[in-house]
Amino acid sequence: MTSRRSFLVAAGAFTGSARAAANVEAKIAKKDFRGITRQDLGTPAMILDEALFEQNLRIMAASNKATGLNIRPHVKIHKCPEITRKQQALGAIGACCATMAEAELITNAGMKGVLYTCQPAGVNKISRAAALAKKSPTFMVVADDPITVDLLNEAAGAAGIRMNVFTDVFVALTRQGIQPGEPALKLAQKIDKSKNLRLAGLMGYSGDAAHTHGFEARRKKSMEDLAALKESVEMCRKSGLEVPIVTGGSTGTYNIDMPVLTELQAGSYVFMDTAYMAIGGKSNDHMYTDFAPALTVLTTVVSHTRKNQCSIDAGNKAMLRVTDQVKGRPEVKIQNQGAEYGMLHWTDTDKGFKLGELVEIYPTNLDTSVNVYDRLYIARGEQIVDMWPIMGRAGAVQR
Ligand SMILES: Cc1ncc(COP(=O)(O)O)c(C=O)c1O
Repeated sequence: MTSRRSFLVAAGAFTGSARAAANVEAKIAKKDFRGITRQDLGTPAMILDEALFEQNLRIMAASNKATGLNIRPHVKIHKCPEITRKQQALGAIGACCATMAEAELITNAGMKGVLYTCQPAGVNKISRAAALAKKSPTFMVVADDPITVDLLNEAAGAAGIRMNVFTDVFVALTRQGIQPGEPALKLAQKIDKSKNLRLAGLMGYSGDAAHTHGFEARRKKSMEDLAALKESVEMCRKSGLEVPIVTGGSTGTYNIDMPVLTELQAGSYVFMDTAYMAIGGKSNDHMYTDFAPALTVLTTVVSHTRKNQCSIDAGNKAMLRVTDQVKGRPEVKIQNQGAEYGMLHWTDTDKGFKLGELVEIYPTNLDTSVNVYDRLYIARGEQIVDMWPIMGRAGAVQR
């Protein structure tokens, strides 16, 4: 009898919490979070630990003050205007976006200084970039090709505006960027001479440096990668061009890139993921503890028919990966079991999981995990205190 009862309690049945769950949607719609805890949420769900998140924002803001680097944080990690607003309240000078949808979303939410860090190519993106620049004169784009510069100039002319354009310089990440030195200088001069464009500066995103393991190795890699950007900036300035902004950098290099950049595009620091946690920091070569892991995916144990293993309700659709980690149980092995299932394996028989138990998972890659959820539930201890929509993430009109 006792074991049956503890089974039901673990499964969340016949409890006050289960009754709250029944009308949780109606309460959320009214922004009434009283009495709502993790137990009431449908899983898998994304949970943001408010205290850790705010701590991460404060740590980055304090670092920026100390280093003199501005920050224009990347939106692609969270796709959430509430978060951009909080970053700006702590001194962020704008926001970086990886898609036009994000740029439109954040600009339409009233934010200034939005930089689309991917070159707009094709009719759809070029015309949307021009439309957004008309709406928000502080909107900025990047270009690594003279063809794009001509097309942007034409689109800006047709819209009757001057558009802010960065020269995107190759800094060891092969996906983007014009060759540094003479080619970068020529492109910057072309932007500067284009009637309807304004040279905003140079960008160089050194993505490989971001996740280089070990602080010294990361510092060395980032400085090596950015040397070419530095040289290009100097060439531009020597030629008489104004280069007001040099933008790039990441969560991994936030305290490294000061000699080259004027501003950082870091994004992941707000939440952190297991890939970042593994890069190591100044004080610990194996764990990057500068920022705290604030985001988890809340899952439920849905089957427990075997010893030392159980199934959770998060699999491919929840972007579960074997490199994710169970919060508080780093020794537990995670296995993906298909669309809706994941599996947990453990060896210590005294520390198992119960059917219906909630298990929180740190994702490996924030961008892809956040992209499959509609909501961030904000947790203050056990209580859910708010819900922020994750936006601009899918659908034809939202690319
Ligand atoms: C263009 C660009 N800038 C900056 C970043 C840095 O972001 P994070 O701090 O999340 O590494 C990224 C991440 O992929 C990026 O694509």
